[in-house]
Amino acid sequence: SSLENGSFQWSAPSNIALVKYWGKKDQQIPANPSVSFTLNHCKTITKLTFVKKENQNTLLFDLLFEGQPKEDFKPKIQKFLERIEKYLPFLREYHFTIDTQNTFPHSSGIASSASGMAALALCLMSLEKALNPAMTDDYFYQKASFLARLGSGSACRSIKGQLVVWGQQQNITGSTDLYGIPFPNAVHANFKNYQDTILLVDKGEKQVSSTLGHDLMHQHPYAERRFEQAHENLDTLQAIFESGDLDQFIKVVESEALTLHAMMMTSMPYFILMKPRTLEIISAIWSFRKDTKIPVCFTLDAGANVHVLYPEAVAEKVLQFIKDKLVGFCQNGQYICDQIGDGALPM
Ligand code: PMV
Repeated sequence: SSLENGSFQWSAPSNIALVKYWGKKDQQIPANPSVSFTLNHCKTITKLTFVKKENQNTLLFDLLFEGQPKEDFKPKIQKFLERIEKYLPFLREYHFTIDTQNTFPHSSGIASSASGMAALALCLMSLEKALNPAMTDDYFYQKASFLARLGSGSACRSIKGQLVVWGQQQNITGSTDLYGIPFPNAVHANFKNYQDTILLVDKGEKQVSSTLGHDLMHQHPYAERRFEQAHENLDTLQAIFESGDLDQFIKVVESEALTLHAMMMTSMPYFILMKPRTLEIISAIWSFRKDTKIPVCFTLDAGANVHVLYPEAVAEKVLQFIKDKLVGFCQNGQYICDQIGDGALPM
């Protein structure tokens, strides 16, 4: 190839699953389909610098975090590059520098692997496009999502907005296990600018890596029923996205979050990833919803933090509630206000 050196920069958002991905087959193929809100403010910004090198014997790269050398993620990135090499044959021709920054506080317990892998996959696709300028936009974004999936499964949902489906589902046209697609059908106005306030309950190191978590589903007594249920919940959600029925939305989303944690509590070994304050928050959300009829609900990742989800129309009232009743349960009172977003952008 002909490019001697240069750089590309992308920002890619985090995402929050509504139907959860938990369990995989080989090669980062999900055991069940999932759907997520793409976030808007929680992002990784990655700059990929490349310089042509002498020989093609090795994959060569340096990692920087906010401009400073940081080797922590070297094995993870090495493994990622090895996995995607067969899809990007030019990788060994360059010496790369990968410089990353996050818009959210590090060690906040917010997973940066989805946004991070998505941003890196996009930078690499920009280089591929520079080498093959005829590439269509559709191909570009699909392959970016395909590559991101090989870095971290949920990362394939961090390329596009606003609702992204990953995993084959009968009634969703174009859905595939290989990459995420924007939800292809009509979405009710109730979901426009949907809000996600992330309450930082516990910022400690993750107790269970998602790699281990997915593996625990292999010997899991309830796995098969769970995978079926995810299909059913995605079908239900699809109808809800069209109708705008927020009561039904809340039921599916909260049940998915608790099911994810139920899977961890019933695996061997077993884990409880919620903290007492997680339960205090859930309980307070339920009381508030009962008293006010305001359609606010929660979801969880594989950790103790709580994502509070609500329509833009009730944002003022919910934020007041969060400040009055929930901030006290957050570590150092920390929370992040985000909302549904449109996906990654070149910079
Ligand atoms: O992308 P991974 O392998 O880190 O798995 C993410 C799993 C959950 O965040 C718990 C659920 C999801 O669908 O994002």
